[in-house]
Formats: sequence, structure tokens, C-alpha cells
Amino acid sequence: MTQHGQSSLVALAQRAADLRRELNEHSYRYYVLDAPIISDAEYDALYNELKRIEAEHPELITPDSPTQRVGGSVAEGFAKVRHPQPILSLGNAFDAAGVRAWHERLVRFAAQAGLLEAGLPEAGLDSFVVEPKIDGLTIVLTYENGVLTQAATRGDGEIGEDVTANVRTIKSVPLALRRAVHVPARLAVRGEAYIPIKAFEQLNAEAQQAGERTFANPRNFAAGSLRQLDPTLTAKRPLRALFYAIVDWVGDDAAPATQWDTLEYLRAAGFPVSDLSRQINGIEAAIAYCEAVIPRRDALPFEIDGMVIKVNDLTLAARLGYVGKDPRGAIAFKFPAREATTVLRAVSVQVGRTGALSPVAQLEPVQLGGITISNATLHNYEDIARKDIRIGDRVIVKRAGDVIPYVAGPVLAARTGQEQVIEPPTVCPFCETPVERREGEVAIYCPNPDCPGRLDRAIAHFVGRGAMDIEGLGNKIVAQLIDAGLVNDVADLYTLTKEQLLELEGFAERKAQKLIDAIAASKEQPLERLLIGLGIRHVGSVAAHALAEHYGNLDALLKAELEDLQQIEGVGPVIAQSIRQWAERESTRRLIDKLKQVGVDPHQAPRRAEEGTVAGGAFVGKVFVLTGALSRPRQEVAAWIVSLGGKVTDSVSSKTSYLVVGEAPGANKVNKARQLNVPMVSEDELRRMAEGG
Ligand code: IVH
Repeated sequence: MTQHGQSSLVALAQRAADLRRELNEHSYRYYVLDAPIISDAEYDALYNELKRIEAEHPELITPDSPTQRVGGSVAEGFAKVRHPQPILSLGNAFDAAGVRAWHERLVRFAAQAGLLEAGLPEAGLDSFVVEPKIDGLTIVLTYENGVLTQAATRGDGEIGEDVTANVRTIKSVPLALRRAVHVPARLAVRGEAYIPIKAFEQLNAEAQQAGERTFANPRNFAAGSLRQLDPTLTAKRPLRALFYAIVDWVGDDAAPATQWDTLEYLRAAGFPVSDLSRQINGIEAAIAYCEAVIPRRDALPFEIDGMVIKVNDLTLAARLGYVGKDPRGAIAFKFPAREATTVLRAVSVQVGRTGALSPVAQLEPVQLGGITISNATLHNYEDIARKDIRIGDRVIVKRAGDVIPYVAGPVLAARTGQEQVIEPPTVCPFCETPVERREGEVAIYCPNPDCPGRLDRAIAHFVGRGAMDIEGLGNKIVAQLIDAGLVNDVADLYTLTKEQLLELEGFAERKAQKLIDAIAASKEQPLERLLIGLGIRHVGSVAAHALAEHYGNLDALLKAELEDLQQIEGVGPVIAQSIRQWAERESTRRLIDKLKQVGVDPHQAPRRAEEGTVAGGAFVGKVFVLTGALSRPRQEVAAWIVSLGGKVTDSVSSKTSYLVVGEAPGANKVNKARQLNVPMVSEDELRRMAEGG
């Protein structure tokens, strides 16, 4: 061996030893303490690295390597139970290509092993059962003459813990098999125990409020619940289970011969079986089904971390044998992870358009669901205090679907004592104005309407779809314009020149001209769009519409008296007050003057009378608030409601009759409606109501 080869082997041996130590420590935390400090995906990554090193250098394998046994050791406190057969694991694929590669290996192996000549139909390798991979906890139940006699956890795969008393408390677990099926002398079945996501969230919130221990995710909660030493505590947890395999069958009749028959048998015997399971021919169709379930993942009542594709013919599956602890005849198609842990390095502050100061986590970069995350929202300072998140903590970062990544909480077990408590700012970090708290709100605010920290949000709002609708002015370009000193307020947009834009990175002739044209065209937007764009506190599309109709131009609005404003349908005292405050500000006057100078000063004929309202319409006496994207512009829907005698306002209050919920609704409005028990309806339901349904 060359000098170079030797030194790299020494390095690899060292790395393998480090990985072994780390993995064993993590699996002890996971299996014995129920207090893991890294996510499953991170564990898998370390495990796979070790497996790779050992595959290339089998001489580095040691008997204590986690790859040489199935799982961790058994906790003290529960009696130990030997499983009738080793409770095995599954190989993983992380994408369609990985599943195809598994299937090719399968076909090759079957041919080489002579399985196909031995009279097994080749079609057997193309007939699958596809099941959800429930992110729970394996349980193995034994029934003697149809009666539940024992329940065990997986433990190390050979020896588990006797949790019979606890499992008996799971109401969906049959204590005896239904007589509708053949009852073998002994039957052992395998399934997953889990806690439904909703129940997990609710109980965790309650525990947090009571200052009790909380759990990072439903899986850990289920584990903690199942391994309670006092079954009366387990009984209080809403554990459920789904079953998918027979691991022991002693009886006169033969056991089900296929996976599909197994699921049907289990169902008939009284076990809960997932109705997401399908019998599917062809590997491509199986992959397509797995992929079709991904977008449905968030709507399921339980967490799944992937799908399992299994060869349907169990005789064939048995003959295919195992690779290590993984059966060849099945593969887990893992979904992108939605949770990772990393270190919280610092907390920065962001100002929203309304002046709300939100904490943003600066994280050690971590991979999650295919993207690298280096910052994430921390919601608000009250949330930080409640969850006791500290700088230097190892934190759990979550991301579901398209949702913005957020810090869910600290990993308390990983604390060193060096972590720093996070204090909310007392002054705005951008303009140093003392912060403000508002009654009934958790956010803290910078009260300075001209705070430079808000400028980018204010401009982005001004140019947005519902406001001046200037195409081609995304957040990145807004930031560029501000950084270059070209724009200090929204009026400055209208004096931009093509030459100035051409100086900026990413701008060529055509793009610059298009933007200049789009900005100029926005001068024709009606007054209500401009009012929305100016971001006056509490003024949403409904109030803006009413104000525009009533006053017709900016000057008239600026002069409007409080009493006059309050009289307007859809305005009310809070909005009226806010408009007066806005109108009296020096900076408002300056901005409006500037806007008028650059030609942004829409005029329309004021309309005072209520026109087009149907007396006795379907919505008389009802007050609606709209949120989210509807099938038509919000303004049109609002006008239609008004034409049927209803009222539309911008914010949910105890006077609201219904919240009409469109796509991607606003969290504030939905939460407020929940709090106040305001019924929420879809646009379809609204239409049915209009038709007298
Ligand atoms: S089959 C030999 N099917 O996933 C059979 N496992 O990562 C191997 N799991 O330890 C298991 N849902 O705890 C199978 N429908 C399902 C499953 C499932 C969840 C769990 C099981 C296993 C782990 C493997």
C-alpha cells in the first residue's frame, strides 16, 4: 500500500470509529431514553455513511457497529419478550430512481438465484402492495386461540419490552379476534402505534401551558405514551394503531399467501388497517401511487414518512431473503424530511410593513426537504419565552409542504448551560424608536411609520397585486432600488429613469423599458387601489373601496372629519381614527404632495347614495369578512354580497356573521374567527346561502 493509501485508511478507520460511537449514543438516547437530539433523517445520514465505509472496507467492521445488530438495547422497567421471529427493518429509497434500482436488483437476484425457473411466475415480481409508512412505533401483538395475550415493542428486533398492559388501553386494538375469520392457535401481528397529529398538537400545547414535559413530534409522544410504567397514564393518551403484517401463524389452515390477503385478513379479524393501501401491478404504477400520496400528506390524520412497496406474493418474498436486516422483497420510498435539528446561532429582527418586529432565527445551515435552511421564523417573542428557546440551543426546525420553515422548539436534552436567554428589543433596531405593545396582541411594534426598516415591505405592498399592481417589481428588485439609493419612498418609483435601471445588475434595455412602462401605467389605477397601496393601518380593500366611493380623491380624504368618516358604511370608529392619524402626519402630507407632483392623483366622481342594493336580499343583516384568494377579485365578491343586502368589513370581530375562506387564507383572520366562534364558509357555501340553501 502506498503512503497515501495508508494515511487515508487510517483517517477512514478513525471516521468509522467516531460514527460508531456517535450512532450508538444516538440510538441509546432514542430507544432507551426516548430523548433523541437529532432527527431520524440525520441519524440515517450518519448510518449510511458508516455503512458505505464498511462496505468498501469490510476489515473495519467491528462487532459493536450499529450495522451489526437490529436497533438498540432494552430499557429497564419492562419485562423482556422474545419475538417469535426477528422484527426486521426496511431498505430505503429516496426517489423514483432509487425504487427502480431496487426493482432491477430484485429481478436480477431472482434470476441468479434460479427462483424464476423454480416455477415462480415472473409476474410475481411485478405485483405489489403499496402502503403508507406510518411514522409511529412498531408493536407486535400475540393472540392465543384468538385472545390477546401479549404486546411488545420492537426493542432490538429480537427482544422487545412487554407493554401488554399499555397496549390494551388502545381502544382500536382488538382484545379478541372476530370470529368471522379463521382463528389460528397462535397469531402474532405487527403494526404501528401512533398519536394523531391534532391530538398531539393539542396535548403538547396543554402540557406546555402547565409547564410539563413536551415532545418534539407525534412519534416521540407515542413512544413516551407506550412506555409509561403506569398504564392508567397511557390510557389518557389518544394512542391508535394500524396493522400490516403477520409475523407468526400456528394453526390448521394456511396463513394468507399474499400481502393483500394479509391486509384483508387483518381487517376481517378486527384490526385497523390503513385504507391508503393499494394492490398495484407494475413498478411504475406503484411509484406513481407513492408520488400521488405526497401532496395528501398534510391532510392525513397521522404522520407518514413515506410509502412501503412490498412484493405481494409472500412465498416469493420469503424466498427473496434478506440483505442484512432488510427483506429484499420490500422497500421504503421515503418522503422528503420535514424536520431537522441544528444550532441557533443568533436572532435577528425584521420589521414588517405595519411595524411589527419579528424575531428571525439565524441557524447553522441544515438540509431540510431538499433545500438548505439558514434562517427561519421564530413567530414572536412571547412564543420564544414560552418554548424557552435560547441562543446556542440545538433547535428543531420544521417545514411542512410549502410552509415557511420555523423553529418549533429547543432540544432540551442537548443543553450545555452555555445557552443565552433571548430578550425582546426595547428599541427598534432600525430607527431606535422605543418599541410599543398593543393590547391583545403578542407582537411588539416599532411605532415609527417612517422607519427605514419598513421601506422594502411598504414598497412591496404598494406595488403588489391587490394594490398598484406593478408587474416586474419583485422583492429582489425593490431591495436593489433601495440599496442603490434610488428609492426612498413609493413616490420615487415614478421618477426612475431607464438609464438608472440599466446601471443595476440584471437589467437590460427591454427589461428596464418594461418596468418603466409598468410603473407609468399604474398611475391610472383607481383611488381605492392607491389607498390599499399606501398601507394605512386597518384600511383593507373593503374600507378603501368605501372611502374612494365617498371622497373621490386624496385631497377630499385628507380633509375628512372624524365624524364624517365614521358615518361611512364599512369604516367604523377604529378605521376612522386611524385615517385621521395618518392624514395628520407630516410625512403623509409630504408623500401625497410628492405623489401628486409625479402624476399619481386619481379622481373619481364621489357617490353618496346606496345604489344597486336589493331590498330584502339573501344577506340582509349579515356581516361578512373575506380572506384568501377567491374565484373572482375580492372587490367583485364584496360588491355581489352588498347587492344582496349584506355588509362586508375588513376585520373579524364579534359582529362578523361569517368568514368567507378562500385559498391560502390569512392566519390572523382564521384564528380570530376560531376564537370568537365565527362560522367559516367556503365560496361555494356562500353561493348556496345566496340561493337560499
Ligand atoms: S414493513 C419486514 N410496512 O417502518 C417488514 N413497515 O423503516 C418490514 N413501518 O420498522 C416492515 N409502516 O416500524 C412496514 N406499512 C408498513 C410500515 C412499516 C411503518 C415502519 C416499521 C419499520 C420501519 C422501517
